[in-house]
Amino acid sequence: MEYLVKKNIVTIKNSEEKFLNFEFLLNDTIRIYTKKNKTDLIELNLFKTRKKFEIKEDNGNIVINYLNYTFKINDKLGFNLYINNKFITTYSFNIYFDDYEKKNYFNTTLNINNKTDYIFGLGDKMSYLDKKGYFYASYNTDDPSHQDELFPSLYKSLNYLLLNISDNFLGLYFPSTYRYTYDLGKTNLDEVKINNFNAHQDFFLFLGKSIKDITKHYSFLVGHPYMVRMKMLGNSQSRWSYENEKMVMDVYDNYKKYDLPLDYIHLDIHYMDGYRDFTIDESRFPNMKELTSKLKEGKVEIVAINDAAIKKDTNFEIYNYLEEHKLFARLDKKTYINAVWPGDSAFPNYNDPKCQEYFKNIAKDFLIDTGISGLWCDMNEPASFNGPLPLNVDHTCKNRKLLHEEEHNVYGEHMVKSFVNTFKELNLRPYIFTRAGMATTSKYAFCWNGDNFSLWHHLRYSLTQNLSLSLSNFMFNGVDIGGFGGDGSKELLIRWIEANAFMPFIRNHSSLNTKNQEPYAFDDETIAIYKKYLDIRYKFIPYLYNLVYLMNKEGSPIIKPLFYNYENDKTCFTINDEYMVGDDLLVAPILNKDERNRIIYLPKGEWINYFTKDKIKGNKFIILNENLAETGYFIRNNTIIPEFENLKYIEKEEIDTLVLNVYGDHGETFIYEDDGKTLNYEKGEFNIYKASIKNGQLTFTYKKKGYNTPFKFLKVIYLGKEYKLPFNEYKDFTL
Ligand code: NOJ
Repeated sequence: MEYLVKKNIVTIKNSEEKFLNFEFLLNDTIRIYTKKNKTDLIELNLFKTRKKFEIKEDNGNIVINYLNYTFKINDKLGFNLYINNKFITTYSFNIYFDDYEKKNYFNTTLNINNKTDYIFGLGDKMSYLDKKGYFYASYNTDDPSHQDELFPSLYKSLNYLLLNISDNFLGLYFPSTYRYTYDLGKTNLDEVKINNFNAHQDFFLFLGKSIKDITKHYSFLVGHPYMVRMKMLGNSQSRWSYENEKMVMDVYDNYKKYDLPLDYIHLDIHYMDGYRDFTIDESRFPNMKELTSKLKEGKVEIVAINDAAIKKDTNFEIYNYLEEHKLFARLDKKTYINAVWPGDSAFPNYNDPKCQEYFKNIAKDFLIDTGISGLWCDMNEPASFNGPLPLNVDHTCKNRKLLHEEEHNVYGEHMVKSFVNTFKELNLRPYIFTRAGMATTSKYAFCWNGDNFSLWHHLRYSLTQNLSLSLSNFMFNGVDIGGFGGDGSKELLIRWIEANAFMPFIRNHSSLNTKNQEPYAFDDETIAIYKKYLDIRYKFIPYLYNLVYLMNKEGSPIIKPLFYNYENDKTCFTINDEYMVGDDLLVAPILNKDERNRIIYLPKGEWINYFTKDKIKGNKFIILNENLAETGYFIRNNTIIPEFENLKYIEKEEIDTLVLNVYGDHGETFIYEDDGKTLNYEKGEFNIYKASIKNGQLTFTYKKKGYNTPFKFLKVIYLGKEYKLPFNEYKDFTL
């Protein structure tokens, strides 16, 4: 074996003259590759190099010491990893080079101990937090039958694993856009086998001191999720379809009538003229601009769906333009046609900058003409009703040869990327809501998890899916509340809103031909309970907006599995039915039909039951008895939660009171504030306040001042009393 060192890269050559490179980067990150993938289809923020490592030969192996990690590489180019000079048997990788069906085929095998180790991540897979014992694949699909954890692929391909092996966490990220498969201890209990097709062996290994470090470093590399509008934390109501103006007005009127908070109504495919993107069926919506203006008076905005493929129709301007400019994917030198909702449809080459520019402008004109506020990008896996797109469909642009097998997983990302400048040119934060994507996509769009069902186990998966997405960098996420397919029941809908009220994005959505499932579609009790939970959600908006800020600034998830915050507590690794919202709120909902008593795990520390105000010592399981209107929300004792009051919609400039609600007898927090919708925060137009309350003394000061706040009052809720103060700075002010 030989090695060569060039700056921060060590290249190892084995006796068969095969190579493996270790590229040492800042932040305890190492890129390991036979050859780097082309990453021109996605954007990565590469870390700076780190050159401090030592190499030596030892008994036919090559040993690299880097920080407190040691890699011992053998002649098969496999390696073992040691931490702090301690051999950790299960931390060994073996890389095999093989020939598979006459194609380049690479496999990474990682040894685990099935009894003690855990495998998290992989994005939207419909499964538990720990993926051990299962097989998954990354090849985007819109197959609607994903009923449970045996279904290998879903809409997104997030090639990221967070492993806990021998009590150490490490992250693995595969930047290629080709297909992957993950055998996570299914075939051999103690082996993780990751295969990638037609790509080079190339992955990033994130070591680091904690899950927080690893997640932040991974998120920095693939790009932090974008800063969403504050209004997007509000409630959305959707259905396939509110298919005419009257149906939309009915939703609006009912929400107002029952005093239910609402910010967006989503229009599904029936608003379009024959499913042609960026058109309006005027027999159903005679004046969209008037409709959107009317709703905006009540502060409700419209979001409209658009699908990835374009109707093949020589009377359709978008089709003609793309055809004329050769901007559709091709097969055998002709535009490739498959079928989606409009029947025969062609697939724009969204990867082509000319195509992106065209769609940017089309979308901008559309939003301006109609008053529609956001784009819901669907069917962008891409979905195709006449079988999958052949692997050799050609997306080549500017001499960059690009066949579908490489473009497939990133197609959705290329689509949504086209619309980012649509919004930026209007000085608005993008409202781009996508179904398909990769790890890098969340810097352009946020997501939902596609077509779930109105089934109790899909309610349970809504937690683990969104938590796994959050670990994998799609941190602004949500599922169809109430379930998409099938008829929901009153009890299921109630339990769903209780469980999902603190998901980053909340939207009630349901399929064509299903029973109505708006909060007012059942009875008065449902309305009252749904309203109770939406009201709580709206109260917590400034708390959630702080988390949106941290997500965008440092790559911290908004919702997290318990183990993210309590990584030394192994009990937390097994909790699939609770989640943390930031660091101070724990949600433990009822997720089963007819259940009234539930076992809840509270990690160490003291917790306050949000509803009963009981103080409970953690590090134990408790049993809570809960009727239909009750659920488990717990606040960490001695914290300040920033809150708003009495909101029925979110219009930042209208909110004049910031509430500091002290849970316990003291606490501190920061509060991030900006205009909530434009890009002006990028120019420094934001405020950060620091608040602390202790021994009856309030301190409330600016840490950063750059935005002209509309707040007029600061309300403090402390030890059962309320204090309404003028909105000013306070230093050691006695309450
Ligand atoms: C599939 C989407 O996942 C779903 O949300 C939508 O309602 C239908 N397409 C119809 O557009």
